[in-house]
Amino acid sequence: MRMVDLIQKKKSGSSLNKEEIEFIVNGYTAGDIPDYQMSAFLMAIHWKGMTDEETSYLTLSMAHSGDVIDLSAIEGIKVDKHSTGGVGDKISLIVAPIAAYFGVPIAKMSGRGLGHTGGTIDKLESIPGFRVELSKEEFISAVNLHKIAIVGQSGNLAPADKKMYALRDVTATVDSIPLIASSIMSKKIASGADAIVLDVKIGSGAFMKSQEDARALAATMVNIGKNVQLNTIALITGMEQPLGREIGNAGEIRESIDVLRGQGDADLTEVAISVAAYMVMLGGKFTHIEEARAAVEKVVRSGDAIETFKSFIASQGGDPMVVDHPELLPSAAFHIDVVSQVEGYLTEIDAEQMGIAAMLLGAGRARKEDPIDYGVGITLNKKIGDTAAIGESLCTLHANREDVQSVIELVLQAFRITDHKPEAVRLIYEVII
Ligand code: URA
Repeated sequence: MRMVDLIQKKKSGSSLNKEEIEFIVNGYTAGDIPDYQMSAFLMAIHWKGMTDEETSYLTLSMAHSGDVIDLSAIEGIKVDKHSTGGVGDKISLIVAPIAAYFGVPIAKMSGRGLGHTGGTIDKLESIPGFRVELSKEEFISAVNLHKIAIVGQSGNLAPADKKMYALRDVTATVDSIPLIASSIMSKKIASGADAIVLDVKIGSGAFMKSQEDARALAATMVNIGKNVQLNTIALITGMEQPLGREIGNAGEIRESIDVLRGQGDADLTEVAISVAAYMVMLGGKFTHIEEARAAVEKVVRSGDAIETFKSFIASQGGDPMVVDHPELLPSAAFHIDVVSQVEGYLTEIDAEQMGIAAMLLGAGRARKEDPIDYGVGITLNKKIGDTAAIGESLCTLHANREDVQSVIELVLQAFRITDHKPEAVRLIYEVII
């Protein structure tokens, strides 16, 4: 087989078979196929697309390019959850303890944040003492004992994806549905769960800007799941504005605690309940989604899953006292209100810009190697649909430096205030099963 012939085949719109796709993925991972040929191949996929069958072959080859985690020593149906990325998206921190409370084993590998989006692992690391690296034995025993453990992704998980994603980033081939779907699902398959709930975000702060694209991505991933016996459900949820009120690591832990106590914001709580309900259903605890939802709502209202959150923190070396005393979490030295310059209804909060603003305060990384300041971030005091008067606080910046003028200017651009009351924002667009 010659790579040039396979590029030609894809360029002409023909489908590749399993052996051809494996040849490409294995050859590229081993360094036998150079970047320039892989770039041409990725661009051909970008233009010509892939059939469902090709996308599944690509996903499986990528999943098997490195370690495939064996979770068979954990009893029960292991359920994972993945979000395509958002700003203020702390849903994993809320739904994982809720699912564990119901006895669904959560053996989760999560990522770090980059650019305008945050990462679950960084958020957990803001808890004093919390260890995100566990040995395989510690990981399995924590899940068997507490039904929950969340660790950083193993270095050798889907190395083909790591290499291809870096190449896509510099060859303008990230925004291709088969490439995004195979990238996400390859890592999920390699992570070893039995079922997964995908949260596909749509809106200003998301990869997918239209419902049509979000639906196509969700359907592609659900289909890959079906082809590999990974029970997969996708929710399409809104990212028209940051989720909840907090953006930034320790702030997002505090807000997650509020939701687990039944004291969270309505939008964040609603998305968390929807995702958690599908997780406990896939985990075999309920047959119908209505039953699952009613049970999850009850647990959120009563705050019962907070004890599961505490034991999860303690089992990974963190200080569980932060749950009752959130003031023990890192905080910032300065709190600066950004006030409205006009009067009217808040009609837009650009989630991506708010994510960048939080990153500039130090809550995120511009480059992979950048350090993180866990205590800094942004609290939204207004959300879409609220009214603002001149001089009223739109949000509060939590910073460890006084000079944040450039961040204030960026944040002010992210808020759009008009004299028209906007329509209510949609939270859950649809569910793809
Ligand atoms: N997230 C991934 O893991 N891969 C993509 O291609 C896009 C988002």
